[in-house]
Amino acid sequence: MKYLKIIGNKKLEGEINISGAKNAALPLLASTILAKNRIKIGNLPDVVDINTLLKLLEKLGSSYTKDKNTIHIETSTINNTKATYDIVKTMRASILVLGPLLARFGHCEVSLPGGCAIGQRPVDLHLKALEQMGAKIEIKSGYIQATCKDGLKGAKIVFDKVTVGGTENIIMAASLATGTTTIINAAKEPEIVQLCEVLEDAGVDIKGVGTSKLIIQGSDKKLLEFKDFNIIPDRIEAGTYMCAAAITNSKLTITNIIPLHLEAIISKLEEMNFEIIQEENSLTIMPTKDIKPVNIVTSEYPGFPTDMQAQFMALATQANGTSTIDERLFENRFMHVSELLRLGADIHLNGNIATINGTPSKLNGTDVMATDLRASSALVLAALVAQGETDIHRIYHLDRGYENLEKKLSEIGVDIQRHNE
Ligand code: UD1
Repeated sequence: MKYLKIIGNKKLEGEINISGAKNAALPLLASTILAKNRIKIGNLPDVVDINTLLKLLEKLGSSYTKDKNTIHIETSTINNTKATYDIVKTMRASILVLGPLLARFGHCEVSLPGGCAIGQRPVDLHLKALEQMGAKIEIKSGYIQATCKDGLKGAKIVFDKVTVGGTENIIMAASLATGTTTIINAAKEPEIVQLCEVLEDAGVDIKGVGTSKLIIQGSDKKLLEFKDFNIIPDRIEAGTYMCAAAITNSKLTITNIIPLHLEAIISKLEEMNFEIIQEENSLTIMPTKDIKPVNIVTSEYPGFPTDMQAQFMALATQANGTSTIDERLFENRFMHVSELLRLGADIHLNGNIATINGTPSKLNGTDVMATDLRASSALVLAALVAQGETDIHRIYHLDRGYENLEKKLSEIGVDIQRHNE
């Protein structure tokens, strides 16, 4: 196993180029199951989660050639419809093959993803919606066994909760179904918008893109002719590096971004007294004399993303005053708190609300353990301002979602090295 050694307390300077969005690339790769042609996808992030999904697609019978951030993928050769436990257990987003496989083949088996560090994370809403579209679903020996002999039928789906993955699965399933599917209470994340746009380019009629009501006209099982496309920039990676600038109080420019996707993050940083200069595809964050505390409530897009909560908690340790973070999406997403405490932070937890008493520069480097992807990035951020050395263990979590993390951070002045345990 590897760990990261960071020597903190250095000013950062320069530019960071943002990679393609992992959370956009995952559903988009799954959607290629609906294609009849070979597709070229650019700006694909080279991270472990993407390679895991590619391994799954390969196991199903697809083939691809990949050159750094560009892939050519061919899924017309898929001849296996079982997503096995060994892959699904390593990445929950594997559930995204359920909708497209079922729509194309009329049957499939996908291992139940199980729980994960940030909570129970059920997939009941995905399954209920597919049943409403005519699928017969049984759970046997840890597998979701789905069949629809006569193909999926358009239906009116009302999601009880806003679910990103559930919305994506149903958009993909509906694209090949017979008739019209209406999704009410759909998620509106930029990653969902791109999925809709790519499917629209492939000839699917989708109304209401970017809103909570989507109306999708299915192709009646006809495979789609995809156009080549590039993955949108990763708003969470961008937000994480904005927090790196903020926590070290450095001037940093973040390039290859869509500022519109970062509005909630920009607005919280502005509340904390950071000036942010926005350009068309980049932004620069300026240092401040007084980091102000902040109150954050996580919610669905366009609200403040749960995937940025841990990073802002690290940042709040450097504010002059008391901040609060109210986590509303996942029940157990505070695993980073105990590790931040080890670094000397003053944080109190009460249910899903964390109170952070900011005391600038009080953190001291020590050994900490990464527990999930975003919690790990919070530890990296805290290490940037801690006195002395911080060793972050179990960094495979970081490799799931941050492309070239050490390279990008070293280029802006961070003293960071990867070592074997
Ligand atoms: C996606 C993101 C993840 C982000 C999350 C919320 C990807 C690959 N992952 O995860 O980074 O943190 O959105 O923005 O894009 N729920 C149910 N039943 C279901 C489905 C979800 O109860 O069938 C609940 C979940 O437990 C959670 C909430 O709904 O409390 C939102 O989950 P969801 O939006 O589905 O998250 P993911 O798609 O798994």
